[in-house]
Amino acid sequence: MTARIIDGKQVSAAIRAELQAEVAALKAATGVVPGLAVVLVGSDPASTSYVTAKEKACHEVGIFSDDNRLPAETSEAELLALIARLNKDDRIHGILVQLPLPKHISEAKVIMAIDPDKDVDGFHPVNVGRMVIGEDGFLPCTPHGVLVLLERCGVELDGAEVVVVGRSNIVGKPLANMLIQKGRRGNATVTVCHTRTRNLAEHTRRADVVIAAAGRPGTITADMVRDGAVVIDVGVNRVTDPSAARGYRLVGDVDFAAVKEKASLITPVPGGVGPMTITMLLHNTVAAAKRRR
Ligand code: GUN
Repeated sequence: MTARIIDGKQVSAAIRAELQAEVAALKAATGVVPGLAVVLVGSDPASTSYVTAKEKACHEVGIFSDDNRLPAETSEAELLALIARLNKDDRIHGILVQLPLPKHISEAKVIMAIDPDKDVDGFHPVNVGRMVIGEDGFLPCTPHGVLVLLERCGVELDGAEVVVVGRSNIVGKPLANMLIQKGRRGNATVTVCHTRTRNLAEHTRRADVVIAAAGRPGTITADMVRDGAVVIDVGVNRVTDPSAARGYRLVGDVDFAAVKEKASLITPVPGGVGPMTITMLLHNTVAAAKRRR
């Protein structure tokens, strides 16, 4: 079987068009323009390019973006003071502090300082708790993006065997939680595998849906996937490639060329899950503005 390739850019573009219409309608009805504060400390190249993409996406759908780029030497107290100010600012409905932060700043403290009702990343423990018990809050963008992508591609999760490879706080753990919830994007039977899993292939071969979020190229090879499975690749890994324009290229966790000959549906890297992460951030920001107005 040769897989249909999921076009994350196309699904994202459709959702962003819907959000643009929602933003225009909200503004016309109430005068409220959703606002997102983006905070970047330092100049890590990958973080800088993510933040630039987030700001650009905001402008495209009509979200006001308040860009805060701070030097790497910014103290924890200065960053906490900025967050306190943004928490009180009525023009700001969502706050995103790009991670990782420099070593001298506690990420846990910074996340805790964000008003949970402005935590559009869904990282605050209050929102993590809301997600686990199935209450309304903000869902973290990458795992939420995976679920929406599956839904828009017509993948049935109800009763499906899903194997998640990776147990990070940003992807693996929340994804597993969201997949077992009752509801149209849940009801799956979930196995979470990680670096200490004894026989990874034994688990992945049973899966209707394999979701790779390990952060290691070549984690999922063709022999680990059953015929007709759905394969979602959340990995974004830079591998050195002297022939590439920047000296590196991006690859996922899945051996794409081989696995696409066995799967029924597969996401590429780049152009699969990646664009959905920013789209769900926009979604959360619009939802935050609607709640607050
Ligand atoms: N760094 C890598 N992914 C993310 C994300 O989704 N949100 C934030 N704030 N930082 C990140």
